[in-house]
Amino acid sequence: MKTIEVCLTPDLIHQHELSGKIVVVVDIFRATSCIVTGLAHGVESMKPVGEVEETKALGKKGYLMAGERGGIKVPEFDMGNSPFEYQADEVKGKKIAISTTNGSQAIIKSAEAQEIIIGAFLNLESIAQYVLQSKINVVIHCAGWKGTPNLEDTLFAGALIDECVEEMGTVGDSALVAHQLYIANHENLFGIAKQSSHAERLSGFGIEEDLEFCMTENEYQVVPKLEDGEIVG
Ligand code: MLT
Repeated sequence: MKTIEVCLTPDLIHQHELSGKIVVVVDIFRATSCIVTGLAHGVESMKPVGEVEETKALGKKGYLMAGERGGIKVPEFDMGNSPFEYQADEVKGKKIAISTTNGSQAIIKSAEAQEIIIGAFLNLESIAQYVLQSKINVVIHCAGWKGTPNLEDTLFAGALIDECVEEMGTVGDSALVAHQLYIANHENLFGIAKQSSHAERLSGFGIEEDLEFCMTENEYQVVPKLEDGEIVG
């Protein structure tokens, strides 16, 4: 039986064997929700970047510069990290370099995986179909917040496990924690997720609409995948 495990924060990723596996990276609020939205709306590719300066260098090569630090758009960047910015006509056909506090870092830290795909509630069903059809084991890599686990990414991990659990075996207690969290709250996902620390932080910036949108299930059918350093749809 294929297996599915959960890494609750990038600071624990060294405890998971990634080679030969699919890693599903998730940062619900908001990096992976933005990546899924952008690729569903015709962005050509998105390059995950660690540092602000590296992003600016890519800006000089024609990339749109996107992302945030601490939830706030980096002033010199073209775009911040609201999923609504990634629906705009101006981003269609563009290459975007994205650097965020946690999400882009988690993608970069997944480098040893055989495949890296990008998950969000927005494409939950498509991700579930992809991993169920694949022949290899899965690690869900939650971006968390600065090395600590967070509620919304753990909820997503539980939701994906719930979609797969009849055909895949879970590994470790973090998968059980995530699944039980989802089972207990699946009828009120947004109500629970908006109690999270990052939801509170973002609400302080007046962007509650982002939170509700990021908790929308199955809005898009894309399975974004990292290929040669660029995420494509
Ligand atoms: C992150 O990478 O932690 C998120 O993108 C933060 C945010 O969007 O506010």
